[in-house]
Amino acid sequence: MCGVFGYVGKEDPLSVCLAGLEQLEYRGYDSTGIGGICKGEIVFCKKAGKLSLLKQGLDLPPLEIAIAHTRWATHGRVNDQNAHPHLDGSGAIAVVHNGIIENYDALREDLRKEGARFSSETDTEVIAHLISKHYQGDLVEALHKAIAWLKGIFALVVIHKNHPHELYAAARACPLSVGFNDERNEAMVSSDPNAFQRPRLNVLFLQSNEIARVSSSRIDVYDQRLKKISKKTERLEGNFQPPAKGGFEHYMIKEIYEQPITIQKSLFGRCNGEVQFEELPPYFLNKIKQVWFLGCGTSANAGRIAALLFEEIARIPAQCEIASEARYRTPLLTPETLVVAISQSGETADTLAAMREAKKYGCKTLAICNVKSSTLMRESDAGILLNAGPEISVCSTKAFTSQLAVLTLLTLYFAQLKKQISPKQLHSFLEHLRAIPAQIQQILDTASDLQKLAKKYADYEHFFFMGRRYMFPTACEAALKLKEISYVNANGYPAGELKHGPIALLNPRFPVVAFCANQQTEEKISSNLMEVKARGAPVLAIASEPQENIGSIADDLFRVPHTIDELSPFASVVAGQLLAYYIAKERGCDIDQPRNLAKSVTVE
Ligand code: G6P
Repeated sequence: MCGVFGYVGKEDPLSVCLAGLEQLEYRGYDSTGIGGICKGEIVFCKKAGKLSLLKQGLDLPPLEIAIAHTRWATHGRVNDQNAHPHLDGSGAIAVVHNGIIENYDALREDLRKEGARFSSETDTEVIAHLISKHYQGDLVEALHKAIAWLKGIFALVVIHKNHPHELYAAARACPLSVGFNDERNEAMVSSDPNAFQRPRLNVLFLQSNEIARVSSSRIDVYDQRLKKISKKTERLEGNFQPPAKGGFEHYMIKEIYEQPITIQKSLFGRCNGEVQFEELPPYFLNKIKQVWFLGCGTSANAGRIAALLFEEIARIPAQCEIASEARYRTPLLTPETLVVAISQSGETADTLAAMREAKKYGCKTLAICNVKSSTLMRESDAGILLNAGPEISVCSTKAFTSQLAVLTLLTLYFAQLKKQISPKQLHSFLEHLRAIPAQIQQILDTASDLQKLAKKYADYEHFFFMGRRYMFPTACEAALKLKEISYVNANGYPAGELKHGPIALLNPRFPVVAFCANQQTEEKISSNLMEVKARGAPVLAIASEPQENIGSIADDLFRVPHTIDELSPFASVVAGQLLAYYIAKERGCDIDQPRNLAKSVTVE
């Protein structure tokens, strides 16, 4: 998703911004651009495509200050003109923007009537013209007047040729951070503070129509009434390490292989004897009568598994809702509802919006997140960190298994509180949970078997992934991996539902990947496999070690180590991740940055 970056200071602004853009690449983008001020004029260079293309064609003179952007198209096609920065009619102002201006069409019409000429199809260009219209020498004032006209969300960085030593930033419901280090005499603005790449940086976050004037030695922040305010700063500690593939061909496969460790990290210190979360005082949970999990994409699949776990083990009514839908329901939420917002990035706009909505009902909110400094962690009542380390590949893998680990512990924590689990049962459950990292390692050690299967299945264009109970959301997650990076049509279905419609699609060119490791439903899924076979569809089964019967039905079989049903998603999903990875590799796809996708989706 779009990323903004800006730099003012004694280093070369162009190089710092390019390095910043490299850090924002992981978010997913389709165009890049950079602009700055040189000898009192705005200059810029922008390009559709990868950052490497922009770098190849860069012919900018030395800059005094610079802003930069990675674009993920919302309004207007992917082309050079629509890339950012966007300028006002006189070329005095340049703007980079993340977010969506919902009323841009009406504003554009009004501005056009007043004589403005537009050179792109974007909503962003409207902002540049609006600021220009209101500019009378003070850019904070102009920005303040301009954003009052905007409906929607935004993180903006603006420069003006008359103010060559100042960045101007404004945000509404879109993450925007300002980083500064007084000793170094420099300041930066970015949609992701991790892009700053500086040790010991002080960081402040803008929100709710706040505006900042940022120079290398001073930062002034104004609230929406244009009153100067002092903002709390956070210290971003210095262990910044640029992401590296560590000898792997892609970030995705590196992150898949990290899972035995990342799962251990999410369990660490939380399950010694009994389950504990120092982040959660018991009073916070005492009166909870129902749980609502919220998330998008992979995080929603983790939430679906968590809802099953909560119902079964903690005996608390629980449901998972896709965040973009949750917002528009008329939910029966009360102050006794715990809303658990699950998000790797902590910046997903739909998840944030749904959580904010739930707060209006007086619900307690808990974030389960991988990024400490994220908006979700800051805005929720309590937060649990995944400790999985930065996830760079757009396709989420290790964050998912860490989410599962934390959500499993959360279930057990509730079960303890509500006395739904005896110490003996808890002990046995935790034994199984602690064995999961080794089981995943076992799968990674046999990855070459999945690579062989991937070669066989790489040419198919359509797949059903099916499963029952815990294996249904697992199948959905594995199917999501395949479609994200291979661009094949892969859909997860509850195995029993196939015969109510989807089975009509099956034929010898339409394989089914069956996730069978849920023991309780073994017989039923065996029957479903027979139904699929009878339609001539190839069957690849992912089954656990003792499931003899499945092996005799399926055309191909991959065995995962045996565990209890509640924990069966871990190993099976890792098998699904590897299958997707190797199929995408066979098909020659751009695995870490699949087309059209973004890592951090900051628009609704
Ligand atoms: C994007 C990513 C997915 C991710 C989803 C939710 O669509 O491409 O991989 O699952 O956002 O992201 P979150 O950061 O909230 O988990």
